[in-house]
Amino acid sequence: DEVIPFYGKHQSGIITPMQDFICMGAFDLTTTSLGDVRSLFQSWTQAAARMTAGKNVDEESDHALLPPVDTGEAMGLRPMKLTITFGLGASFFDERFGLASKRPAPLVDLPRFNSDEMRKEWSGGDIVVQVCANDPQVAFHALRNLARIARGKAVLHWLQEGFQRTSASDPTGSTPRNLLGFKDGTNNPQVSDPATANEVVWANTAESPAWMAGGSYMVMRRIRMRIEVWDRSTLTDQENTFGRHRLTGAPLGKANEFDELELDRKDAKGKPVVPVNSHAALAHMEGKVKILRRGYSYSSGMDLKTGQLDAGLLFICYNRDPRKQFIPMQQKLASVDRLNEYITHVGSGLYACLPGASEGGYIGDTLF
Ligand code: HEM
Repeated sequence: DEVIPFYGKHQSGIITPMQDFICMGAFDLTTTSLGDVRSLFQSWTQAAARMTAGKNVDEESDHALLPPVDTGEAMGLRPMKLTITFGLGASFFDERFGLASKRPAPLVDLPRFNSDEMRKEWSGGDIVVQVCANDPQVAFHALRNLARIARGKAVLHWLQEGFQRTSASDPTGSTPRNLLGFKDGTNNPQVSDPATANEVVWANTAESPAWMAGGSYMVMRRIRMRIEVWDRSTLTDQENTFGRHRLTGAPLGKANEFDELELDRKDAKGKPVVPVNSHAALAHMEGKVKILRRGYSYSSGMDLKTGQLDAGLLFICYNRDPRKQFIPMQQKLASVDRLNEYITHVGSGLYACLPGASEGGYIGDTLF
């Protein structure tokens, strides 16, 4: 049960229940040959299938005068639910590989949202690789060896790591808390139900080209939290910011985490019990627009200019058409969400995550 199968109709790491750690990289291609891109994805597929099964990246040659084939730090470790998920950024479809006409319509250039403060070193990239595992060393090893295989064809553009509480510290698997101390993920759609996954997550030919069917669009946002400011705000203010209770995760005015979020409930004075500008109320989108959130906390040392922590949320979500899901949602949140006082988006990417591959095939074989 520690192996998540790599091959299948869909890539793993999308509706797979979240592992404890993420190590995620974006690559820029340095080659301009489509043949090189194809062989890169063929090598990556083989390596990913081996590593997710707990093996070395490839058989060792044991040649005394050659560097070892695998970098070694995962030798003897269990697979730890390793998943490796590949996606293509919009820049992959520029003039270099002759694939411009294949660019999926949902793979738009994300608009600039209110108060975005984007930094190049955390944004974009031709290819994204999301690596998740229940061990940070297993995750790092996988990304490192994929980068090594890419030598001469692609270079890392950014690398970001994230975490959540581990399965060891919460064996019951209750909803994890984010770095603002609130349960995060409560009202995620139940994608173990195939109909829900098809509705929310999996690309289909209604909006996407046939080569993307069974894939999904991933949005990454590096969202820095103003932790020190948050820590000085009152409990009431914090709860009104999210529209939920801190201790239980229940909607304001309710007792249990999974109680229904009823936005039309009023208090004795006629005021909504869940503030209309609270994060949960706005992100609910009247129940009409949903995304699958799969983000991790990050902590990246400190901001030397201000002496504050550089920490926040490596927000990741999957949706079948960001033009109808993530973008309208973020447009609304960016303009009126009460949470904006405490967060800033500093990195961004949108990627077309390819359909899964079957054994003998490779990731990307529907496209190139
Ligand atoms: C709900 C935290 C950014 C979309 C929530 C909840 C928390 C939370 C605590 C309530 C519990 C839950 O249902 O999971 C945060 C934090 C953010 C952030 C700390 C930034 C640092 C975003 C962004 C989006 C988003 C950028 C999408 C554009 C949602 C959605 C819900 C939600 C869809 C569920 C709403 C519903 O009840 O239907 N978030 N969030 N969040 N958030 Fe966020």
